[in-house]
Parts: sequence; C-alpha cells; structure tokens
Amino acid sequence: MILVTGGAGFIGSNFVMQWCAQSDEPVVNLDALTYAGNLSNLKSLSGNLRHHFVHGNVCDGPLLHQLLADHQPRAIVHFAAESHVDRSITSPDAFIETNVVGTFRLLEAARNYWNSLLGPQKDAFRLLHVSTDEVYGTLDPTDPAFTEATPYRPNSPYSASKAASDHLVRSYYHTYGMPVLTTNCSNNYGPFHFPEKLIPLMIVNALAGKLLPVYGNGQQIRDWLYVEDHCAGICRVLEAGACGETYNIGGWNEKANIDIVRTVCHLLDEMAPASERKVINQSTGKVVKSYDELITHVADRPGHDLRYAIDAGKIERELGWKPVETFESGIRKTVAWYLSNQEWVTGVMDGSYRDWVAKQYEIGKK
Ligand code: NAD
Ligand code: DAU
Repeated sequence: MILVTGGAGFIGSNFVMQWCAQSDEPVVNLDALTYAGNLSNLKSLSGNLRHHFVHGNVCDGPLLHQLLADHQPRAIVHFAAESHVDRSITSPDAFIETNVVGTFRLLEAARNYWNSLLGPQKDAFRLLHVSTDEVYGTLDPTDPAFTEATPYRPNSPYSASKAASDHLVRSYYHTYGMPVLTTNCSNNYGPFHFPEKLIPLMIVNALAGKLLPVYGNGQQIRDWLYVEDHCAGICRVLEAGACGETYNIGGWNEKANIDIVRTVCHLLDEMAPASERKVINQSTGKVVKSYDELITHVADRPGHDLRYAIDAGKIERELGWKPVETFESGIRKTVAWYLSNQEWVTGVMDGSYRDWVAKQYEIGKK
C-alpha cells in the first residue's frame, strides 16, 4: 500500500481518486482536515475498502511512526501543506509549522521506517515530495522557463517554506541515501479546487454577482495545468523517477491572470447566462448582462511574482509524461464541474471561509 498525506485537499483528493480508479493497491490517507481539507471531496470512495482515511497531523511524529509500522507502505506521497500564498502573507506561522516542520517530521519517521526494512522492500521504498514552481521565484517576460537547474529564489513565506522543505528532502538523499523524489509543479486547476484560489474564486463570485478581484493590472503570468495531468505526472515519477532527482511538471500553458478571468467569464456567459439566471451585481444592484462586468482591479499582492513558466522537458524526455488536457478543454470541464457541483461549493463556504474572504479583500480594496 501507499501512504498519502494531505489527500483531502485539492490535488491530494484528485490523486487518491485517480489512484483508486487505476490501481488495486490500497491507500492510507493522512490529513489534518484544516479549512482546505474536505472529506466530501472523497465521497465517491465511501465504502471503498482500499481507501483508509486517518485524521491526523503530519507534524505528529509518534502518529507517523505508528502509521508506518502498522501499514508498512511501499511509498509515501507527501501533499500535506498550507498552500495559499495570500494566507502566508497574513499568517505565516502555519506555513512554517506544516510545510517545514511537518516535512521534517515525515522525513524522520520515514528514515526510521526505511532503516527497518530489508532487501527488496528497502530497495523499492520511495518518498515523493510534492512541491511547487514558486520556489524558483519570478521570471521576466523574456526569461527562459524554469528548469530543474534554476536556482531557488522564493519570494513569499509560502514559497520560502516549500523551498525549505525541498532542501530538507534533498538533504535526506545526500546524507542518508534515502530514496526520495521531488516534483515541482506549476498552477493546477480543476474539480475540488478551494474557492480562495484564482479560478474557482472567479467562478463562485461571478455566479453570486460578486466582484471579481484582479490583483494589480492582472498582467501576471501563471502556467496552468489540469489537476489530473499533475496527478498522472506524480504517478509516473513515483513509478520510474530516479532517486534524489527533481522533476518539473507543467502544462506549457502560460496565461495572464486577466485573460484567465475573461475566459472564465466568457465560458459562464455561454454555459450559465447571467440574464437567464437573473444574476444581480451585488455592488450596483443591477442585473448582470455579461459576467466580465464584474471584473474589478484591486490592490496588488505584496511581493507578487510577475511570471512563472515551467520547462517540463525533463519529465517528458526521461519518463515519457506529458499533459493530455489542453487549457481550452480543461477550463471548460472545470467551469462545468463547478456549475454541477454547487452543493460542494456551498459546503466549503462555511463561516471561517467567509471571514477570510472579507478580511482579505477589505485589505485589498483600492
Ligand atoms: P490544499 O490546500 O488544497 O490541500 C492541503 C491539504 O493538506 C488539505 O487537505 C489539508 O487539510 C492538509 N493539511 C494541511 N496541513 C496539514 C497537516 N499539518 N497535517 C496533515 N494534513 C494537513 O493544497 P493543494 O493545492 O492540494 O496542494 C497540495 C500540495 O501540492 C502542496 O504541497 C502544494 O504546495 C503543492 N502544489 C500545489 C499547486 C497548486 O496549484 N495548488 C501547484 C504545485 C504544487
Ligand atoms: O505555481 C504553483 C502555485 O500555484 C502553488 O504552489 C500554490 O499552492 C497555488 O496556490 C498557486 O499559487 P498562486 O499564488 O499562483 O495561485 P492563486 O490562485 O492564489 O493566484 C493565481 C494568480 O492570480 C496570482 O498571480 C494572484 C492572482 N489573483 C489571485 C486571487 C486569489 C488575483 O488576481 N486575484 C485573486 O483574488
């Protein structure tokens, strides 16, 4: 079996569902169920005996030791993290705790467990650390895309905490010879994406007639990858990646934020016309004709990275992975998913989430 951490979050839950659909190998899923963790993401697995959920914290060393001893996994896939850049700017503590200390505790427990294994079991063991392209910092418009050799220059508490965790993982390979792998992926989008992140926030706000807050001039560029492609890339690295190596994963899909927001608005105009739904602009009280009327520019994110771009050549050359979804097909599927899963959206919009949004965009008001 494999142990997954953070498997109730956005990417982790997509990964667990994909894994269970494609493999008979059981998954133990350790998740602390923070605001970003949601067991309803995994509703389709209820009754599936190959999925075993454990509510617990990745910083809890004794729990990790116990889980590894009890379940004897052949691999660990580590997703658990605080993942939202804006939250890391207002409250960095949890990022250091989970992303740095949590990864360290997991590495220590895994080292202890790996040392207890013998022969083929020891040789086969892998720990895959899921990381981000944000560790490389920011690019100018004409710079080449990030490769695995790009120096680390993190610019937010989030990316700094992920960079620290990547360095720890690397050190366990060089110092102890542990069979670790790291993936650095670009921006994901798709089903179960928490509506604090750009794409789901825009969909959810638009449908509610709320303003669509674009930071600064909206010309910042992100490189978008459909979440299922990311999960497939992780599986491929787990299966065939070389220990101690890092692999960039990306969709060759650079887009400016403002273009992403306009695309979402146009898809909603087509798939859920505001006039038919009688969507009222919550700021003006008028009926919305086209969702892009709701776009509003707000104060920029402090330290906002201008551009991310991933060169995913290594994983394609060495492991034969490349994305199957185009941005056009992926974003259409994503908008359709949110339209048919309004209940999920309502479920995650609890009181604490609403408080966060109110605080964040009050600060961001121009
Ligand atoms: P997410 O915030 O949606 O989910 C994180 C999950 O981790 C949640 O289920 C949460 O409950 C759990 N968690 C948080 N703290 C924990 C703790 N201390 N112990 C146990 N579980 C804990 O994040 P995501 O977007 O799914 O990202 C998953 C991983 O992928 C992260 O490591 C992130 O850095 C990385 N990543 C994300 C993206 C992206 O675009 N979302 C891109 C590249 C890499
Ligand atoms: O690059 C990978 C990273 O992508 C992951 O490591 C992070 O976990 C993930 O959250 C994501 O980080 P970003 O900061 O790029 O994602 P976010 O959706 O928060 O923002 C995307 C862009 O949109 C960014 O330039 C900021 C901008 N933005 C975001 C929000 C929430 C807005 O303009 N308005 C908004 O309201």
